[in-house]
Amino acid sequence: MSDLTTNYMGIPLKNPIIAGASKLTSNLETIKKMEESGAGAVVTASLFEEQVQLERFKMDDEREKTSYRHPEMITVFPELEHAGPKEHLYWVQKTKESLSIPVIGSLNAVHKETWIEYAKRLEETGIDALELNFYASPKQFDRDAVSIEEEQIAILKQIQTEVKIPLSVKLSSFYTNPLHFISRLDQEGVKGFVLFNQLFQPDIDINREKNVFLLHLSRRADNRLPLRYAGLLSGNIRADICSNTGILAGEDIVKMILAGATCVQVVSTLYKNGVEQIGKMLNDLKAWMERKGYGSLDAFRGKMSKQYSKDPWVYTRAQYVKLLMNPKDLLENDPAP
Ligand SMILES: Cc1cc2nc3c(=O)[nH]c(=O)nc-3n(C[C@H](O)[C@H](O)[C@H](O)COP(=O)(O)O)c2cc1C
Repeated sequence: MSDLTTNYMGIPLKNPIIAGASKLTSNLETIKKMEESGAGAVVTASLFEEQVQLERFKMDDEREKTSYRHPEMITVFPELEHAGPKEHLYWVQKTKESLSIPVIGSLNAVHKETWIEYAKRLEETGIDALELNFYASPKQFDRDAVSIEEEQIAILKQIQTEVKIPLSVKLSSFYTNPLHFISRLDQEGVKGFVLFNQLFQPDIDINREKNVFLLHLSRRADNRLPLRYAGLLSGNIRADICSNTGILAGEDIVKMILAGATCVQVVSTLYKNGVEQIGKMLNDLKAWMERKGYGSLDAFRGKMSKQYSKDPWVYTRAQYVKLLMNPKDLLENDPAP
């Protein structure tokens, strides 16, 4: 009988599948179905800076007794109109009260004041941990990497002084050296790293010559990046690694744990295959462990990380050169979408 339990940020999970933050985790009924399907934990949809700002604009309107509404906020985030921070905090608390699995809150702010105030308020809802989404899409030409990283570290430190629950950080891979930045955050006491966040990009409709914003769901091949970083980081940081992006099936969980992850977050596969996919992924994980004779996740965690890999070149430039010299291998190994 395979033991799927794991420990993420000091929180015991019955298995390594966490339903990641998305529109799906903004609905209590859907979250309950995720729990029924066997999810080990859930991350509630993020509270965004825009929700907080919109509420502030509304309050200013009231005070000034005008009908002015910040037009860009309403146009760009029409759905946020009825989703103020108070409602958000209320349903996060309700979600926590309604579930027996751990509930992780998620905050995606911009201003320091918002980060601190809402980290505290989210903690007050009773959540088990808080995920800080450092969504930093490069857009300024005059800011260097150091100033961006220092600002994010300063925000983390401030939140740590105010909040007692474990903190994880969700990052994009767009850092000059993600390994260095992750190590620094690790030294500051971050308990978990969610690697990686997806930055959503606008597309262009060439007939209408208009920008379009399409929902981008991950493909299998997208998990190569988190896989590589789990393998590089495993054994080199104290915090837990929670792999994210392109984890669509049970075998993808196996890969991430072999590389050194503690757990995984899934979103796209739930959109594509329904929340029942969690149960299927767990069955496939169990079947693989039984076939291989592994009684627990710890028995194979990190076995294929850089630290323990039998092939010392696997995470290095040599592999890249070898692949480019042998494009046949490249095509043969193309993963199914
Ligand atoms: C519709 C949708 C909504 C999302 N909303 C959030 C969110 O509120 N907060 C967040 O941190 N990530 C959000 N994400 C990103 C996911 O949590 C996840 O990081 C990303 O989709 C990659 O994982 P996946 O390959 O399993 O989809 C969202 C993704 C989708 C598709």
